[in-house]
Amino acid sequence: MDIYKVLKERRSVRKYKSDPVPDETLKRILEAAQLAPSWSNMQCWRFIVVRDPKRKEQLAESVPDKNPAIKAIGQTAPVVIVLCADPKASGQQDNKDYYLLDSGLAMQQLMLAAHAEGLGTCWVAWFDEAKAREACAVPPDYRVVALTPLGFPEKQPSEKPRKELGEIVFTEEWGNQTKLD
Ligand SMILES: Cc1cc2nc3c(=O)[nH]c(=O)nc-3n(C[C@H](O)[C@H](O)[C@H](O)COP(=O)(O)O)c2cc1C
Repeated sequence: MDIYKVLKERRSVRKYKSDPVPDETLKRILEAAQLAPSWSNMQCWRFIVVRDPKRKEQLAESVPDKNPAIKAIGQTAPVVIVLCADPKASGQQDNKDYYLLDSGLAMQQLMLAAHAEGLGTCWVAWFDEAKAREACAVPPDYRVVALTPLGFPEKQPSEKPRKELGEIVFTEEWGNQTKLD
């Protein structure tokens, strides 16, 4: 699938069919994550693939009731991926922690590859880290950065609005209107 089509069509999916995700497909999307760039190529990320319904329920207990992705994590998605990262296996510069960026880039590659395979995902960051850590026995030197449900979407969610390019892109100096619009 053309990369621009993937970028345009990807959505945060919160409703899933129960159809299983084939192992070969799962492997391809994890390989897409593996290819992401990272600080000194240290690849601080780790992915836990969860299919066990009991463990998914336990993971959902880390997600607040008001989080719209809670049902996808605990019930509907056939797979949940838990994104972990070791802060010591990345850099810090000017108070910026790059393990979040490294692991986020890998997760984004996974999400785009999943979409190209006809699968849905949803970045979930609003959860209790201690509970998610316990659910998957994540060691203390790793942070639990995010969760995503993974599965075939029940339907394609509608497009969420984005700011105009003129609002987010400047020419040469901060505030100079871009001529790209
Ligand atoms: C860092 C981050 C955290 C997010 N956390 C959650 C979350 O906890 N629950 C949820 O339902 N969606 C979450 N989302 C998904 C956003 O709500 C979604 O990306 C945004 O509304 C744009 O919609 P789209 O992804 O369909 O384009 C998160 C997205 C990001 C990037």
